[in-house]
Amino acid sequence: MVTEVFISPGNGGTENEFKCTNISALDNENLVAFAKENNIDMTVVGPELPLVEGITDIFRRNGLAIIGPSKDGAQLEGSKAFSKNFMRNNGVKTGYYIEFDKYEEAVDFLPECDWPVVIKADGLAAGKGVIICKDIKDAEDALKRILVERVFGSAGDSVIIEEFIEGKEVSIIAFVDGRTILPLLSAKDHKQIGNGDTGLNTGGMGVIAPNPWYTEEIEADFHKNILEPTLKGIQKAQWDFRGILFFGVMIAEGGAYLLEYNVRMGDPETQGVLPLLENDLAEVFQKIHYRELKNYSLEFKKESSCTVVAASGGYPGNYKKGLEISGTDELSQPLFIGGAEKKDDRFYTKSGRVLSVTALADTLPEASDLAYREISKISFEGIYYRTDIGVDSRG
Ligand code: GLY
Repeated sequence: MVTEVFISPGNGGTENEFKCTNISALDNENLVAFAKENNIDMTVVGPELPLVEGITDIFRRNGLAIIGPSKDGAQLEGSKAFSKNFMRNNGVKTGYYIEFDKYEEAVDFLPECDWPVVIKADGLAAGKGVIICKDIKDAEDALKRILVERVFGSAGDSVIIEEFIEGKEVSIIAFVDGRTILPLLSAKDHKQIGNGDTGLNTGGMGVIAPNPWYTEEIEADFHKNILEPTLKGIQKAQWDFRGILFFGVMIAEGGAYLLEYNVRMGDPETQGVLPLLENDLAEVFQKIHYRELKNYSLEFKKESSCTVVAASGGYPGNYKKGLEISGTDELSQPLFIGGAEKKDDRFYTKSGRVLSVTALADTLPEASDLAYREISKISFEGIYYRTDIGVDSRG
């Protein structure tokens, strides 16, 4: 269905994809002008910032089709307090929380907490604003950094202190047209840098899909207590929510709890889940735009996927950039470039998480095995990846 795709700004990976052209990074107004001048039929927003700034409202006012929630709906990701209030007001199952904007008041509350707790900066903090605190001292430090030292700027105007829910994480990406919500296959991210979920948090080091812990019972719980109340809440708020909604869920003793919403596809979950989707994504976007998801169904390959992310040595701390990457031509499975640029037909590293490889196979153990055989073909100085993604399932 698609003749050409323009990506702003794109990267070394999108540059040479079939039908794709990178364009420079444009602000929201200039993207509208570009879409008009080039007769763009459909715009799809990747990251959260333009959504929170209201890009879809500007496009729709200009009669342009765009996939993403309106500015008010995007607050589900843009403000942690807004999102938790939305969950509470709409009966979405989530952990307890309380919001503070004054350091002293937040500190006074700490003796009442059961430990650990999660402290979150309210606004967008590039994935760094969520801090797990094991005791009062950790919590005081986190509150001081956010509310007094303002390390996240205005994203730290307020914080929420939230119950820590322990369990197995599940990520669910869903398509929403405002009337219907269609979840994709479940996935499991691996956020920590080290094997066995150890070490610092990252943007995500690997994914398995479907998630083996997402049983039929948990799925029913998720639908009843999280997905359906969320859709009702969106309808009650009367947002123009034609876009993507990502649910970060924890499976704990009491069933499924919602930790957070994102108003975009998750990274790296998307790399793991979309290769399993059989529908034409352009058709899905049309159905979202015309609010026709109700009689539409998503089809998935009867396979499993395993995605392994390769990072720069030292990430999530300091790392070198500009290192030549080799082996990308040797792969038989999908390669996703995250942070690399292309010069003279060669890739060079440009950020912490550099690329990922997604392997598909009949079973998860086979997918995991294949993903590791594939990623071992890639090399650059200091390359690092976890070696346990999907490995448990191999028995
Ligand atoms: N893995 C969830 C996210 O993209 O932030």
